[in-house]
Amino acid sequence: MSQARVGLTLAFFLFGGSPVAAQAPTQAQGPEKGTCATCHEILPAARLSDPAKAYVNDVHASKGFGCVACHGGDATNAGLGAMDPAKGYVAIPAREQEAQLCGRCHSDAQFMKQYNPALRVDQEREYLTSVHGQRLNRAGDTRVATCVSCHPAHSIRPPSDPQSSVHPLKVAETCSTCHADAEYMASYGVPTDQHEKYERSIHWTMIEEEHDLTAPTCNDCHGNHGAAPPGISWVGNTCGQCHSVMADFYAQSVHARLFPMLGVPGCVACHNNHEILPAGDELLGFDEGAACVRCHQADSPSGEKIVAMRGLIDSLKVAAHEADSILLRAENAGVEVSQALFDLEGAQTALVHARAAVHAFTIDAVTEYVDAGLETTSEAYDRGQQAMGELRFRRTGLAISVAIILALIVGLILRIRELDRKTSTT
Ligand code: HEC
Ligand code: HEC
Ligand code: HEC
Ligand code: HEC
Ligand code: HEC
Ligand code: HEC
Ligand code: HEC
Ligand code: HEC
Ligand code: HEC
Repeated sequence: MSQARVGLTLAFFLFGGSPVAAQAPTQAQGPEKGTCATCHEILPAARLSDPAKAYVNDVHASKGFGCVACHGGDATNAGLGAMDPAKGYVAIPAREQEAQLCGRCHSDAQFMKQYNPALRVDQEREYLTSVHGQRLNRAGDTRVATCVSCHPAHSIRPPSDPQSSVHPLKVAETCSTCHADAEYMASYGVPTDQHEKYERSIHWTMIEEEHDLTAPTCNDCHGNHGAAPPGISWVGNTCGQCHSVMADFYAQSVHARLFPMLGVPGCVACHNNHEILPAGDELLGFDEGAACVRCHQADSPSGEKIVAMRGLIDSLKVAAHEADSILLRAENAGVEVSQALFDLEGAQTALVHARAAVHAFTIDAVTEYVDAGLETTSEAYDRGQQAMGELRFRRTGLAISVAIILALIVGLILRIRELDRKTSTT
């Protein structure tokens, strides 16, 4: 342990608080680099020069803060005296003290307001409630994430910056430096497959392929700073932030009442937590891939309800398909049915609602939307049949007129021949 570390630790025990925490936020020094960076940039050891080189692009540097903001010392002294502990210099802050080091500014609403009044100032407080913070402070476990595990010191960037370690495209990688490292996590006995599974999920597909940043990555479900496994009681709330329609139906269900007592984690029981896949009708019922088979049997009273729910959805799908086919046939034959095709889209909307209503886990909820959809499909089908009727009528009409014209032509030809014969005999 370096002398500075010993001093730091001693001060921690003697004064019951940390010397870092005791300090007020260091004010920004302005655009000039200061002696620390000037000397460090040219030091041969990468360990000493890399921080200075990286820091140029750090958000703190862009706001005019120098090295002293975190390390203390005297940035006007060009010699080694700059690093004088008497001037508040701290070599390498202990992991236990990082939260306080960053929190010195980030927990100070008054101070932060000068820079960005919209920025939250609860990171340190939240962090202390997380599994990470709790283990660090209660069990002295320094393998957990601290502020600089997720925001690498010297290259800290705002989450909106695509190069930031906490940009939505990068968060999973950042968490996985530990959570996907089986060796590092060995002593805890927790799975290390979250990232691998998450990469197969519809959520990551939306982010990576569709660039839809509204889909969740690790911190959207676990919190940025209050990282904890979502408990049984709040899994629904986590998913419900974004899937509120499903969550509202689910909240009224028998499952929502019973699952917490059975220790079953809500939405995750049927959809998984990290490997969430697109959910189709096959999830409902007793076929392969159905989520209900785990707890229900087809011939039980609940099983019969499940089969009926699936039957309702299938009936709407079939009816929509039939109406669509007949209208398309009419359209291809040249009958104007665009309005009917447009109206039929209402059946697709009803199908979406019915699939959401499955989450109430009652026949009534599903019936309500399926019935509305069936009304639409039956109107569309009627219009299709009517169009086909018109088509038949037009075809018969056409056949008759063709026959009449043909008869006239034949008559005409016969008449001409007759006239020809008459003129040649005379
Ligand atoms: C004249 C050059 C020079 C100046 C100015 C200077 N440093 Fe250093 N710094 C060094 C050298 C050389 C070392 C390595 C010392 C060692 O290994 O004992 C070092 C080490 C460090 C370390 C690593 C300590 C450790 O225990 O690993 C930190 C952090 C640091 N300096 C920060 C600062 C800060 C902050 C300032 C400005 C207040 C500053 N330095 C100013 C040359 C300088
Ligand atoms: C936002 C706070 C912050 C600022 C600003 C900052 N540092 Fe650091 N620095 C840290 C923390 C925390 C550590 C220890 C943890 C780590 O290395 O990730 C550290 C570690 C170091 C080390 C030791 C690296 C090692 O691997 O042993 C050096 C050298 C250093 N800083 C130099 C600097 C210099 C030079 C500047 C200015 C150009 C600077 N730091 C600015 C927080 C900061
Ligand atoms: C000397 C005060 C100070 C210290 C110490 C400090 N910060 Fe900052 N930090 C700021 C200020 C000021 C900003 C700029 C806020 C803004 O304008 O958006 C900032 C910005 C940030 C941002 C980007 C926020 C955003 O969305 O714009 C992150 C992330 C961050 N700091 C993390 C840290 C971490 C981690 C530490 C500790 C290693 C730390 N800070 C230490 C003052 C400080
Ligand atoms: C387990 C990883 C992790 C740890 C530990 C962590 N952060 Fe963050 N932090 C994040 C993520 C992820 C975001 C991005 C949030 C977003 O997308 O809005 C973030 C965002 C921030 C921001 C931007 C404003 C905000 O709240 O969104 C600041 C400032 C910040 N962190 C400071 C800190 C400080 C200070 C600590 C230590 C007390 C810390 N962080 C510890 C992951 C972490
Ligand atoms: C520096 C390594 C490190 C990083 C980075 C890290 N963690 Fe952790 N995390 C740990 C360790 C160690 C534990 C303690 C293991 C335990 O309690 O089972 C832990 C615990 C957790 C737990 C509680 C698990 C449980 O067993 O109940 C969750 C959830 C978690 N981390 C999420 C995250 C998320 C999300 C991120 C990224 C935003 C992240 N972690 C980044 C090391 C890390
Ligand atoms: C869609 C929400 C969601 C996303 C995204 C997510 N998690 Fe989770 N995670 C959960 C839920 C819910 C649980 C609790 C599962 C349970 O109780 O069965 C969990 C559990 C965990 C645990 C505890 C151990 C375990 O596997 O059960 C860790 C560690 C963890 N997640 C880390 C991560 C990391 C790292 C990422 C990003 C790669 C991530 N999570 C992404 C919802 C999510
Ligand atoms: C008991 C099992 C079960 C639970 C619990 C459950 N779901 Fe579902 N979920 C399903 C089934 C089955 C489907 C497929 C319905 C269909 O397509 O016929 C589905 C479909 C979905 C869909 C896709 C809907 C669509 O438009 O295709 C989303 C999103 C969804 N669920 C989210 C949630 C959320 C959020 C929760 C928790 C509030 C939750 N689910 C709880 C079984 C469940
Ligand atoms: C931050 C927002 C957010 C959170 C939190 C979230 N999701 Fe999603 N989810 C999305 C987005 C965006 C999509 C892709 C678009 C869509 O289909 O709605 C999606 C897609 C899905 C799908 C596939 C829907 C389909 O059409 O087949 C399911 C199932 C799902 N999420 C379940 C969950 C569950 C379960 C949780 C909680 C463990 C959860 N989601 C948490 C935003 C979120
Ligand atoms: C983790 C176990 C579990 C899973 C998975 C599960 N259920 Fe249930 N469900 C229960 C329990 C427990 C009850 C209450 C006892 C009963 O009625 O069988 C119940 C009851 C029901 C009921 C009866 C509700 C009432 O009002 O009578 C329906 C309907 C139902 N579930 C539908 C489903 C569907 C659909 C699925 C699959 C998408 C499913 N369940 C998956 C545990 C589960």
